[in-house]
Amino acid sequence: MSNVHHITHPLVQHKLTLMRKKEASTNSFRRLLNELAMLMAYEVTRDMAMQDVEIETPLETMTAKVIDGKKLVFVSILRAGTGILDGMLSVVPGARVGHIGLYRDPKTLTAVEYYFKMPQNMQDRDVIVVDPMLATGNSAIAAVERLKELNPKSIKFVCLLTCPEGIAALQAAHPDVPIYTAAIDRQLNDHGYILPGLGDAGDRMFGTK
Ligand code: URA
Repeated sequence: MSNVHHITHPLVQHKLTLMRKKEASTNSFRRLLNELAMLMAYEVTRDMAMQDVEIETPLETMTAKVIDGKKLVFVSILRAGTGILDGMLSVVPGARVGHIGLYRDPKTLTAVEYYFKMPQNMQDRDVIVVDPMLATGNSAIAAVERLKELNPKSIKFVCLLTCPEGIAALQAAHPDVPIYTAAIDRQLNDHGYILPGLGDAGDRMFGTK
């Protein structure tokens, strides 16, 4: 599949398996999500621009590389994106953060927007959209559509889990947006849940039902 980065690192796969288990507590689900997000941040930022700075070590002056974290914006799709966001911010603490509030209409499964707040000057920034589940793709498509109105330099999409239907939908609407995922599961069910999946990511993260 073009433009899909399946992150198969053993640490990522191990933590995802623990999260999938139905007996995983809210506490451990949240902790694992946080750890997984840090590992995924490592992959998704692999091609981040770097710049040279002059620094002094205790012994001499040198030219060394740094990233400009402020150019990066993590955009969290509420509410389940929050868990990934926290993990990503712990490794790129200087990143800016945007939020998009979207809920899934339970009947039509379409995305309805209720909140949109981004940093200024989005045209100078690289965007990483985070949402644990790329299921029907409707929320991801709507989020990317809204973000493209602000003309950012680039957009990537990060999820923990997806399925062939979600990938096909997002790629059909936005073929220029690479997808980073820890797993590609079998299918969607009639309610828009991923099988075998991990259930409702938001409910599992926050202990709601
Ligand atoms: N959202 C979830 O939280 N879980 C799914 O399986 C699909 C969408």
